[in-house]
Amino acid sequence: MGRVAGKTAIITGGAAGIGRSIAVLLAGEGAHVVITDTSVEGGREAARAIGKRAVFMSHDVADEAAWIGVIADTVKQFGGLNILVNNAGIGSPNVRPENADLDQWRRVQSVNLEGTFLGCKHALPAMESGNGGAIINISSIAAFVPTAGDLVYGASKAAVLQLTRSLALHCARNRSNIRVNSIHPGAIRTKGVEGRRSPEILRQVERSIPGGQMGEPQDIAYAALYLASDESKYVTGMAMIVDGGYMLAPVPPRAPEN
Ligand SMILES: NC(=O)c1ccc[n+]([C@@H]2O[C@H](COP(=O)([O-])OP(=O)(O)OC[C@H]3O[C@@H](n4cnc5c(N)ncnc54)[C@H](O)[C@@H]3O)[C@@H](O)[C@H]2O)c1
Repeated sequence: MGRVAGKTAIITGGAAGIGRSIAVLLAGEGAHVVITDTSVEGGREAARAIGKRAVFMSHDVADEAAWIGVIADTVKQFGGLNILVNNAGIGSPNVRPENADLDQWRRVQSVNLEGTFLGCKHALPAMESGNGGAIINISSIAAFVPTAGDLVYGASKAAVLQLTRSLALHCARNRSNIRVNSIHPGAIRTKGVEGRRSPEILRQVERSIPGGQMGEPQDIAYAALYLASDESKYVTGMAMIVDGGYMLAPVPPRAPEN
């Protein structure tokens, strides 16, 4: 208990899946958590389920004005910001390059990459005016290896990796006591993933993992808790892979569906 006691955390996309699990764990370890999401109903329900340590703020991470509002409201309500988890993300259809749609490309980059960039940009001054902080960007193993549907999604997640590393270096050199790390989940069983894939595809995914099992959202939440806590005070610019061993022997990506 209390590994992040007294800290204030923003978790984007915290209404469901990995983000919700991170919010539950950080709150359980003593943090005040601000869950943000485009899903108002889901976000309110997640905050209600956690109880008095959690609040919900409606927020599209691709919207810069919304970011300014969320950070200002957080600082006003809790007196500062110590932890930001840029978790909100969307997938992209597994299509041949010539069929990839530019609007789709832009939407995925705007949520996965620009949303993460905007969060970092606006969190830094809030953290600098306190005692520093920890930023955790949820990327993917798709930053390192091509996976199904990789074309658009993988490009966004690889860019998140380099954004994280550049920012980590900047913050370290500025002695701002802000650490920036990324987590790279493998296949994690969330409703988002299960809803997009048939049972047969999910079985194929499981067969591609050396341990034979998809991960649970909590597997990512425990990694985030470590990076959010002072236990990782000497860790910055790290890419933490949490994938059940998938990256030890990655399988070739599935052929595009159309
Ligand atoms: N589940 C996996 O296997 C897996 C693997 C690698 C990486 N990831 C990454 O982990 C993160 C969470 O994945 P998940 O499986 O829990 O997803 P999910 O779809 O279950 O949940 C994502 C949440 O983000 C919210 N969201 C979507 N767009 C948003 C926006 N523009 N602004 C604010 N909130 C928004 C959704 O409403 C939802 O509540 C994503 O960045 C994803 O790319 C997931």
